[in-house]
Amino acid sequence: MTSPGRPPAASQLTLSQIMDQHHTNLMGTVHGGRILNLIDSAAGVVAARHSDGPAVTAAMDETVFLQAVRVGDVVHLHARITWAGRSSMEVAVRVTADRWDRDVPATTVATSHLVMVAVDDDGTPRTVPPLLPQTEEDHRSFRQAEIRRRHRLALRDALARPVALEVTV
Ligand SMILES: CC(C)(COP(=O)(O)OP(=O)(O)OC[C@H]1O[C@@H](n2cnc3c(N)ncnc32)[C@H](O)[C@@H]1OP(=O)(O)O)[C@@H](O)C(=O)NCCC(=O)NCCS
Repeated sequence: MTSPGRPPAASQLTLSQIMDQHHTNLMGTVHGGRILNLIDSAAGVVAARHSDGPAVTAAMDETVFLQAVRVGDVVHLHARITWAGRSSMEVAVRVTADRWDRDVPATTVATSHLVMVAVDDDGTPRTVPPLLPQTEEDHRSFRQAEIRRRHRLALRDALARPVALEVTV
């Protein structure tokens, strides 16, 4: 039976995590890869919630790190589905940080958009429920996601024959 569809609010997630000293860079601040890992995890939960099963990351758009995250900060990953197609979904993630020294205001530290694809046990793409935007903001996000999708697919097609990279060691 085909699902009647779901609103973005039904699968949205805020994931919070205290930053410890295990993932720092040479500057002593949190490694960007740690933040990317959390972004990917949060998007995966949202995609799984919307599609009632596992989803893999097919693409991650350019992620801009606006501010450094420090050990002791509490980061919050606000993840929400913005678009759904046949088997793919776009999930937007905004990362904010509460600073451990409370006189420094909380701030957005990174934003990202990910393409998640729902898969079955064999890793084959499976159909996902339609997304039903409810609010004006949901509709705007949906329209913007359609533009990003067109750009991603056009870029993928244009770069279908990549230049071979040779690494000499
Ligand atoms: C993602 C994956 C399942 C897609 O498989 P595929 O055989 O290319 O499937 P399709 O061509 O049918 O694409 C499936 C959907 O993903 C979309 N898609 C695939 N690659 C995309 C990209 N680079 N950008 C945007 N959308 C993409 C397609 O448009 C399609 O969307 P739709 O069904 O909503 O129309 C497959 O490439 C894969 O398993 N990749 C590895 C994923 C992974 O392991 N991620 C973790 C990284 S460690």
